Amino acid sequence: MSGAPREKWNSRTGFVLAAIGSAVGLGNMWRFSYLAAEHGGAAFVVLYLGFTLLVGVPVLLAEMALGRGARRSPIAALEHYGGRSWRGLGALFVVSGFVILAYYSVIAGWTFAYAISGLTGFGSDPAATFAEVSTGPDAVAWHLAFMALVVTVVIGGVRGGIERAAVFLMPALLVLLVGLALYASGLEGSGEGYRRYLSIDVSAVFDRDVMVQAAGQAFFSLSLGMGAMLTFASYVGRDTDLKRDSLVISASDFGVAFLAGLVVFPLIFAFGLEAQVGDSTLGALFITLPAAFAEMGAAGRVVGTLFFVGLAVGALTSAVSLLEVVVSTAIDSLGLSRRRATLFFGSVTALLGIPAALDIEILGLMDQVAGNFLLVLGGFLLAVFVGWRMPDPVAAVLPGAASRWGLGAWRGLLRYVVPPILLWVLWGSAEATLAAVGAVLG
Ligand code: TRP
Repeated sequence: MSGAPREKWNSRTGFVLAAIGSAVGLGNMWRFSYLAAEHGGAAFVVLYLGFTLLVGVPVLLAEMALGRGARRSPIAALEHYGGRSWRGLGALFVVSGFVILAYYSVIAGWTFAYAISGLTGFGSDPAATFAEVSTGPDAVAWHLAFMALVVTVVIGGVRGGIERAAVFLMPALLVLLVGLALYASGLEGSGEGYRRYLSIDVSAVFDRDVMVQAAGQAFFSLSLGMGAMLTFASYVGRDTDLKRDSLVISASDFGVAFLAGLVVFPLIFAFGLEAQVGDSTLGALFITLPAAFAEMGAAGRVVGTLFFVGLAVGALTSAVSLLEVVVSTAIDSLGLSRRRATLFFGSVTALLGIPAALDIEILGLMDQVAGNFLLVLGGFLLAVFVGWRMPDPVAAVLPGAASRWGLGAWRGLLRYVVPPILLWVLWGSAEATLAAVGAVLG
């Protein structure tokens, strides 16, 4: 460990905002809407909410208890409470973070490209535009530019620019989303969209594959399963109420995703984009929204550009948290300076993302492998660790908490409920991952 005292957030709300900034990002809009569109709408949404409450909240609190308790980055924190044999889990976190950031940055690059194309009206054929923007030399260039931005922020420290930008642009994004949801509700034909989004096909709720994707999405959206929340909580003081914060963070995160669905689903049906979205579910958000913006004329350019700028900022605060895990680990465990660690690992990530920018199937595959399987695996092992191995997890949550209420149940969930559920999900995820690998390799 370096000799300098550990950094701390400016305030208690600084931590909550940073954690929400990590959680709210492309996952809530791009990933949520593509998975919901692909996996039966309402059934997916209900399962995703269920996994968020039953698994996401407990695992979020577990990561935060571990991070604040140990006041170390993931590998060192696991070693602190579990001995050397648990360091491997920290290493798994770092690998997951790398892969996720690599393709996440490619999608973030799309949002920049769209923000700019918005100025000129988004083009007339949304599906063709998406195919052009999402793969090839432009996608590579935007991906590299975005990674350069992430590296700059992580080198410079997160508080100054990024926190200030996020505090302004994230609320603006929320206002835009609400406005778009209202706009979409007035469109003719939106009813079918609400039906898909909100009325449940009970048989799909028991579909194994839908469950697996919903569980993975709960992890991805809450930034769980790879030590991001653990790392952020390691900068937190004993006056912070982790129990309350875990609920605030989860509720905000779910709220934004749900709202995104209230925009995307009515638009798909109001503009008759069902077939185009079906051809490229990965592009659901990027195909439907520009179609709506183009329809709105000059106002659509302004709103559309603002929307994608807001989304790019959301992506930036999330990407920063992904790189921060790798960097803080390299600082603690390899003794590198922040600058060197960031430049080196940022460059490696940028290279790793290039294949995803050249082939959208590879992007989808990386999302399945890391964004689903590795996160669920990491979350499972972490729940087992905090539930069974960490000496007194409840004592790690208590400082700052208003009461002990719910903490016994929390530990019970971590021990007896979360691991079996996740083991079951993991099995399905492994199958889905192998199938996806097979499909891409042909
Ligand atoms: N949660 C972010 C989103 O929804 C992405 C993200 C940031 C993430 N940090 C993470 C995902 C750590 C998994 C793990 O866009």
